[in-house]
Amino acid sequence: MRDWFRAVGLLLIPVLVFGFVAGCGDDDDEEDMGYEATIDDFSGYDSWERVDYVAYPVNMSTLGTAHAGANEAYVRDVFMSSDASMSGGEWAEGSIFVKEVHEFDSNQEPDWGSNGALMGMVKRGGDYNPDHGGWEWFLLSGDGSSIEARGGDLMDGACNSCHAQATDDYVFEHPASYMLESGGEVDFFADGAMNWERVDSTYGTDEFLSGAHGDDTEYSREVFRRQAGGVAKDGLFPVGTVLLKRLSKLDGQGNREYPEAGGFTAMVKNSMNEWEWFMMNPQNGELVNRGGDDVMTNCASCHSQATGANGMDMVFSHPGLGN
Ligand code: HEC
Ligand code: HEC
Repeated sequence: MRDWFRAVGLLLIPVLVFGFVAGCGDDDDEEDMGYEATIDDFSGYDSWERVDYVAYPVNMSTLGTAHAGANEAYVRDVFMSSDASMSGGEWAEGSIFVKEVHEFDSNQEPDWGSNGALMGMVKRGGDYNPDHGGWEWFLLSGDGSSIEARGGDLMDGACNSCHAQATDDYVFEHPASYMLESGGEVDFFADGAMNWERVDSTYGTDEFLSGAHGDDTEYSREVFRRQAGGVAKDGLFPVGTVLLKRLSKLDGQGNREYPEAGGFTAMVKNSMNEWEWFMMNPQNGELVNRGGDDVMTNCASCHSQATGANGMDMVFSHPGLGN
């Protein structure tokens, strides 16, 4: 039985090859090239559903240096068209994803910088790019007004081969998640206080503190961020953002002293709308506690006042954070 199939299969090959050659130029036999997008299909993409907003080091192991993934100043924003839907493990023909990769200028406004790009992927389907899910890849001009390059094999197939690792038919999982690994938290943040950018340093009373974060008048309060791309945009900080607050003073000999608890407090953005809270005692190297809003209820309830003129996305306003 199987041999019979094989014999028929072998016989069919020349027929198919001949048929294809003979069919060239013949409209009736043209391949189905699926959904062919124009620049208009991308217009207003930034008002589509924003499925992700991430910063270094999210997805580092997959990205390497692609999409400026290893650059701490860059963020990546992903939008999905309203026609995009999935069934049977595949995105529907005409589904579109757009991705912005950019840094920020000195006013915390998006800036393409030298490694930024505006990119897209469109599910064409039909017989288009059959080895790679029928996707077409796009590079757009920064203002979204023109298509600079497109194709199933864009960048010598680099888009295809990296996206082939994605879980959802060439589209990566959104929203992305990021967790600071357990163990060594206090050392990680102590190192941050030495090496990260200090975005604020305040002293004295604060209308929202009401005694939290130590005695308002005894310790100075400094805020450090791990990545320059830790900037709020359209109401949210990127997944992966790490902020540290240090409460300390120097004694007469220049030694740093901390309050008994909470010398270090920190926030790590785990997912689009989730922060994890950390409380540490750098004096004895102890992690007091870490967890989400349900575990660290005090942190979450006070920080929820960071809205409007006072901040954004649970983070109080500080210079350079875009909130
Ligand atoms: C080395 C891996 C790699 C290469 C090469 C790559 N991408 Fe991506 N791309 C990713 C990852 C990972 C994401 C998920 C979001 C993130 O972390 O930035 C992504 C996301 C996207 C998205 C949003 C939809 C999604 O799948 O999440 C688009 C659009 C996109 N890439 C376009 C392109 C284009 C166009 C090219 C080729 C010019 C390309 N990518 C090359 C890894 C890659
Ligand atoms: C009663 C209110 C209150 C509580 C409780 C509180 N914070 Fe804050 N926190 C603030 C205020 C106000 C600021 C900003 C002013 C400043 O930096 O001094 C701040 C700043 C921070 C910052 C710097 C980023 C930002 O939002 O300004 C971090 C990190 C932080 N807190 C972590 C924590 C953690 C972790 C907890 C729980 C263990 C916590 N906070 C509990 C009021 C609070």
